[in-house]
Amino acid sequence: MIPLVITLSLASRSYPIYVGQHLLTKHNILLPYLSSKQIMIVTQENIASLYLPILKAALADYPCDVMYLPNGEQYKNIEQWQGILEKLIEQRHERNTTLIALGGGIVGDMTGFAAACYLRGVNFIQIPTTLIAQVDAAIGGKTAINHASGKNMIGAFYQPRCVIADIDFLQTLSAREYRAGLAEVVKYGLIQDADFFQWLEANMALLLSKDESALLYAVHKSASIKANFVSQDEKEQGLRSLLNLGHTFGHALEVANHYEGILHGEAVAVGIIMASFLSMQLGWISSSDHQRIQALFDKIGCMKNLPALPLPSDFIRFMQHDKKVEAGKVHFILLKGIGQAIKTSVVTDQQLKQTIEWAADLMVNV
Ligand SMILES: NC(=O)c1ccc[n+]([C@@H]2O[C@H](COP(=O)([O-])OP(=O)(O)OC[C@H]3O[C@@H](n4cnc5c(N)ncnc54)[C@H](O)[C@@H]3O)[C@@H](O)[C@H]2O)c1
Repeated sequence: MIPLVITLSLASRSYPIYVGQHLLTKHNILLPYLSSKQIMIVTQENIASLYLPILKAALADYPCDVMYLPNGEQYKNIEQWQGILEKLIEQRHERNTTLIALGGGIVGDMTGFAAACYLRGVNFIQIPTTLIAQVDAAIGGKTAINHASGKNMIGAFYQPRCVIADIDFLQTLSAREYRAGLAEVVKYGLIQDADFFQWLEANMALLLSKDESALLYAVHKSASIKANFVSQDEKEQGLRSLLNLGHTFGHALEVANHYEGILHGEAVAVGIIMASFLSMQLGWISSSDHQRIQALFDKIGCMKNLPALPLPSDFIRFMQHDKKVEAGKVHFILLKGIGQAIKTSVVTDQQLKQTIEWAADLMVNV
């Protein structure tokens, strides 16, 4: 099958996003995007054991350095990022080197930020291996590391030369990681495309079984929506912020739990449900729409066995540290309907408290 190609349009920095199967084996996609024979692959050991041989074979006779990062959001930090830079310096990588991120969002975000900073910016390729990374993290050039006070607090906008999203990689992803990734897929239907949301409602069982054609459709659709948003608003001056649906709550949850015990996608799922409830409270969506959203997340099953929610006062404090705070006010992405998102700060403390209390009860009962 010929790979599907989406173009992320940013004038001279435009790049292709390939979505398909056997992309590294049957299709000679990678080589045109290398800037020299110097390459450093950044990955994690479990991913390398599955896919590094395929990547190395695709790189033919190019010698590669390989850097391994530890697994876990708690390691998306300055020390590990510095480790990538140290290795580049130690191995004498030059300005025309290429960094290849082979992994999920953590590998991609950290490698991208290292590529942005090393020698003021070197060539960078994303080969995302998780669902979240294929539909979201690898696309759009947001690169970052976490700080104890907040998610992705230190980073840069730095676009890759290309993104290679092979859905075959998703077959080895754990059920928990995969379900968490589906939360980001649902997000695209909610913010932009009511028909896609409806398709997800009808096809969730197929997606949960990792049916190849359903997956191809969902990854391609999601990546296209993301690319379209980024093409119009690379630096998140307006439109792109709608992609943060569920993230103001979700990031606070991740920080409250010190990035342990809850996956990013799971935190986003809880955040989206909370945003939906808050939108209903404001009278912006009907209770039947809210129930449809909740039912879809129930089907995905990505909110089970999560840590209890922090108390409202703590939750609000964590939200106030988020990057989405502007002029001291927390901003939310909420819904005006399925397929229609809006950025707002018109939320009272009382509505916020009720939303957090409602979600805390919900989490006990899922
Ligand atoms: N830059 C952005 O725009 C953006 C968008 C969304 C999320 N993110 C970031 O992405 C991160 C979450 O990404 P993630 O969910 O991919 O998590 P992750 O990178 O931790 O990957 C999840 C786990 O799956 C393993 N794994 C990866 N691919 C695999 C495969 N094919 N088979 C088996 N195991 C595999 C990894 O080793 C890891 O243990 C967060 O840090 C989040 O902030 C960034």
